[in-house]
Formats: sequence, C-alpha cells, structure tokens
Amino acid sequence: MVVTLDGPAGVGKTTLARKVAQELRVAFLDTGAMFRATALKLGEGAWDLPGEELDRRLAGITFSLSGMGRTSTLSCCGEPVGDEVRTERVGMWASHLAARPEVRERQKAAQRAMGADTPLVAEGRDMGTVVFPSAAHKFFLDADPRVRAGRRAAQLTQMGKKADLEAIEASIRARDDQDRNRAIAPLIPAPDAVVIDTSGLTLDEVFGRIMRSIRS
Ligand code: DC
Repeated sequence: MVVTLDGPAGVGKTTLARKVAQELRVAFLDTGAMFRATALKLGEGAWDLPGEELDRRLAGITFSLSGMGRTSTLSCCGEPVGDEVRTERVGMWASHLAARPEVRERQKAAQRAMGADTPLVAEGRDMGTVVFPSAAHKFFLDADPRVRAGRRAAQLTQMGKKADLEAIEASIRARDDQDRNRAIAPLIPAPDAVVIDTSGLTLDEVFGRIMRSIRS
C-alpha cells in the first residue's frame, strides 16, 4: 500500500506524512530529503554537469529506508540523512538538480524499489503523478506562499535559528516557480488526488481530513 502526499515547499508535507505513516504503522519516505542529500553529496553547480558525468556520479549514491512511522530512517550511502540537508540553500540546489532527467530517473528507480519493499507514505512533488501513479490514496497540499514562509520561519525560530521572513518567502516563490514549470515531472496534482488548501487550517485539521479520506 502506498499513500502519496505532494505539494510545494513549506506546506507541511513532511510533518503530516510522518504523522500519517505513524497512524497507519507504515514507513515514511521523504523524497525531498533524497534530492537534498544528493545535492549535498554532489555539491554546488552539479546541475550544470554534462549528462554522462552527472549520471556517473549519481551511480555512486544509494538510498535505503528502515523502521516505520515516526522512527522511519532514510539513509544515503549507508548514513542516516540528518538536519544538515534542511537549509534553504540546499533546498534550492535540490530544486536545480531535480530538473535534470538523469537525476529524476535515478530517484524514481530508488523510490519505486523502496515502495516495492514496504508499504509507505511517500511525500514529494511527483509521487502521485509519476512515481506511484497507482497509489491507493493521493493527496495534494497547497497554501499561500506567505503562509508557508510564516510556518517555516516559525519552525526555524523554534529550533533557535535566525529566520528572515522576506528571504524565506522569496526563496519559496523561486522554488515554486522552478518546481511547477520544469519540463519533467512538474509539481501538479494528480487527476485523482484529493486537493487540500491548508492556508486556513491547523496541522491537526489537515491530518483529520487525510485520515478520514483514507478510512472512507
Ligand atoms: O520537499 P523539499 O523542500 O525537501 O524538496 C527539495 C527540492 O527537491 C524541491 O524544491 C524539488 C525537489 N523534489 C522534487 O523535484 N521531487 C520530489 N519528489 C521531491 C523533491
């Protein structure tokens, strides 16, 4: 069984997908973390490499998933992926890389292999449209960019980090633009996805809607 949760940056997908996976007692797959870990391994500018060279470097990057629900752990080359990938800068690198077909093909193969191994809740941009088109339940979350920037700023402040709301909003808008308008696997809802505008909803309200839809 696969549940997909797609949507733009900062919409709360990761928190919700982890919570849904915990409730269903299945694994949670954060595919944004896969793109981010790849970006961090390859370094700045890798998105401009010639196709063959990029593919050669990608071949050395492997992923695995263990545990379930809240304790699901994604590993890259045998090491758990941690908070080092969660910066706006690495998010932007990931978004640049994600436009390259070589990267998307490798990621899709790794994601499908993990989905074939274990039931999971997968979150990202193209889970319902490209990677798991026959998923049992698909959701697409959206929210106003300003609301998403505010949520991300609050998260950073809670972690004791500095948050510049204007800069976060600008980065979110730039990433939206790049992710929605790329030629391959752009960010769009699958035709059979349940679309939820989370702008005026709390996390618990969105979680409630998702669980009701799955259970019905
Ligand atoms: O969800 P996130 O912010 O961690 O994702 C980082 C970037 O990775 C995002 O801007 C685009 C890319 N991505 C993607 O293209 N496809 C996915 N399934 C997940 C992420």
